[in-house]
Amino acid sequence: MKMNETDTILIIEDDRSINKLLERFLATEGFRVLKSFNGRDGMEQFYKHKPDLVISDINMPYMNGFEVCKEIKSKEEFRLIPVILLTSRDDNQSKIIGIEAGADDFIVKPVNRFLLSARIKSLIKSKKLNEKLDNSWSLLFSLAKIIEAKDNYTEKHTIRVAQLAQELGQELGLSEEEKNTLIKGGVLHDIGKVGIPDKILTKKGKLTAAEYEIMKKHTEIGYEICQGLNSLREISAIIYSHHEKYDGSGYPQGLEKDEIPLLAQIISITDVYDALRSDRSYRKSYSLDQTLEIINRERGKSFNPALVDLFLGKVVNTG
Ligand SMILES: [Fe+2]
Repeated sequence: MKMNETDTILIIEDDRSINKLLERFLATEGFRVLKSFNGRDGMEQFYKHKPDLVISDINMPYMNGFEVCKEIKSKEEFRLIPVILLTSRDDNQSKIIGIEAGADDFIVKPVNRFLLSARIKSLIKSKKLNEKLDNSWSLLFSLAKIIEAKDNYTEKHTIRVAQLAQELGQELGLSEEEKNTLIKGGVLHDIGKVGIPDKILTKKGKLTAAEYEIMKKHTEIGYEICQGLNSLREISAIIYSHHEKYDGSGYPQGLEKDEIPLLAQIISITDVYDALRSDRSYRKSYSLDQTLEIINRERGKSFNPALVDLFLGKVVNTG
């Protein structure tokens, strides 16, 4: 993220007088301005300079504004760069296509400079905030990967848990927000293992009762880590409760049935399923039949019976 630097704005507009007007106005507002007169050249400048924001006209030679927008938003490393499309008054059709192309905002021509200035500032502010969040995410994801490697998993257990949980969430008709929380919770559910001594975490044989008690603390440690971060608060319930069991015999609180947050119940079943199906450094994976038998045996004990039915009926079979 750029700090204390002048933000750069790329203008893509084939109408030279509007282009000039925008350039002059944005320069007086203190931005560094790059200008381009068609979509193709605009994209070349974009890749070269990686601006903080793009203002693009829609109808232009070679490449129109929708195509420009689509191309920027299709690339993971650029998707947070805001794109403002310039439209004519009441052109709802363009707005719909623009939204589909991923445009962040629309400004009607003739451009009101104060409105444009306010929109630009707010979009750049939220871009920087999102970048910060992304940075903390990538840090936590890296941490999750390190823990996974230590935790005797051979590959990508947490990613598969996240995918399975999201699929089960889909079958349950959960909202996009809840499904996103499941993905993050799936990846980070064991993040608290960062606080478990290596000799316990990487032990090949069975844990002693005392070691197991220490291992159980990973739920509380993970909860503490994520409670402290605003952006992760919603997944802290998953982390805290992913070892609770439906019959109340789990930890850390011994919650039962609906007392256990639904998202935690989902992670619990997908976590166990994938752990059984994975090769560990100390044992081979269970076959699909053996795994299904174990999960079914835990129906009403470890897991919510309705979730078992949906998971085994829809997610595992169709997956
Ligand atoms: Fe765990």
